[in-house]
Amino acid sequence: MSKRMVKIFDTTLRDGEQTPGIALAPEQKLEVAKALDDLGVDVIEAGAAITSEGERQAIKMISSANLNAEICSFTRALRADVDAALACDVDSIHLVVPTSDIHLQYKLKKSRAEVKEMALDAVRYAVDHGLIVELSAEDATRSDLAFIKEIFLGGIGEGAQRVCICDTVGVLTPERAHELFAEVVKAVNVPVAAHCHNDFGMATANTVAAVRAGAQEVHVTVNGLGERAGNAALEEVVLALAQFYDVQTKIRLKGLYEISRLVERHTGLPVSPTKAVVGENAFSHEAGIHTAGVLAYPPTYEPIAPKMVGHHRRLVFGKHVGSHAIESELRRMGLEPTKEQVREIFEQVKKLGDRGKLVTDAELRAIVDAVMGRILEEMVKLEELTVLSGNKVTPTASVRLKFEDKQVTESGLGVGPVDAAINAIRKVVEGMSNIRLQEYHVDAISGGTDAVVDVVVKLTDGKRIVTARGTSGDIIMASVQAMLNGVNRLLWDRKIGGA
Ligand code: KIV
Ligand code: ZN
Repeated sequence: MSKRMVKIFDTTLRDGEQTPGIALAPEQKLEVAKALDDLGVDVIEAGAAITSEGERQAIKMISSANLNAEICSFTRALRADVDAALACDVDSIHLVVPTSDIHLQYKLKKSRAEVKEMALDAVRYAVDHGLIVELSAEDATRSDLAFIKEIFLGGIGEGAQRVCICDTVGVLTPERAHELFAEVVKAVNVPVAAHCHNDFGMATANTVAAVRAGAQEVHVTVNGLGERAGNAALEEVVLALAQFYDVQTKIRLKGLYEISRLVERHTGLPVSPTKAVVGENAFSHEAGIHTAGVLAYPPTYEPIAPKMVGHHRRLVFGKHVGSHAIESELRRMGLEPTKEQVREIFEQVKKLGDRGKLVTDAELRAIVDAVMGRILEEMVKLEELTVLSGNKVTPTASVRLKFEDKQVTESGLGVGPVDAAINAIRKVVEGMSNIRLQEYHVDAISGGTDAVVDVVVKLTDGKRIVTARGTSGDIIMASVQAMLNGVNRLLWDRKIGGA
């Protein structure tokens, strides 16, 4: 028997872009749309054509990119919105009609009869102009079910090909989702979609429940971006459907991690390390028992293989580390340590971890180098750093570094002196080696104005990721040290071809 298929309607470029603080340039939207298409999504909601000239430009670029996915624009139930979508050459519109009395009374200030009339007119107009129409009931989960059915049946009568129930403020539970979707699926003869928000952390569970009740399409966003607490996350929904319910989608699971990082880069919104499926810690193990278990037999602590979603396993070294993990990491680095060397490295890592510190990659490598008699060549050296700050100047930093016998000078501006110094170093480093700063954390180790601060950075050169630390009484120097430690580690590993 063939497996049940569900369609993926991706709204990263519309609802996801409504995440506070996110705005993508047309070229960035096009790049994300191409990646979504390559991932296998069925429908790409590219934006709302009525919004602005830039938005129309982005949607047009996406609809003329010859993608396999259906390209869709969000519209309200207004002919002007439909015209704007038509001007962008989209295949379909996501025509949204508020149905709850709260929205009708306080937002639209219209009666149910007026809203129904607007909805049917807009559907008729769009269908007459050759568009596929997906008719959505906004705030459906706080609406009168009889009114939703009336709108849907009327819209289908005018030619709408799909309908969608929106849990606009995320108030569904899986039980209610099942009941509601089963009712609507029974009442209409077109595919029903689920659009769930995550206000109570239930968006994925509710979406899955909707599918179990017969929904044939799900609305999702990469990384769960979206208004307020976000939408159901694409990576979570497709994986849960495949793993637990044997429901298939066209999504290429191996591309999930990569697209998550692409969207993170373009939106500038960091993915939480603990985010399911794509977070940096989703397949990280620290505790000795866990790492030993995973190394012996991965399913012990990995419900799925990280490779399945294009992710990677990471063993983190801290006070819970076990000697198995150390040995395995050394072998992964291409080294062949003796038993005594493993023991010595293990003890030094434990000691560092006991001081309450995460042992960064750079520190682990430094311990390994010291114990195994390897010498790290400091490839980039700080020659000079000047930082200017005050209430009347934009914080500015200039830095001179020595790299391969060359002196490289750069300057940077920032919101504060640390930011300016990091920006200056970042410019030099990116210019010479495409190393990027992914994360920056600062902690005060001691109290008071003379506190010792501990800065940990995460850097990547696209292939490897390293964490590195800088500790100083001066936050600027701690930050600079952390950056340079990480950069040196990456450059040195690259030079010697190590891990
Ligand atoms: O959550 C929602 O209701 C929406 C609609 C506007 C479709 O995003
Ligand atoms: Zn939404």
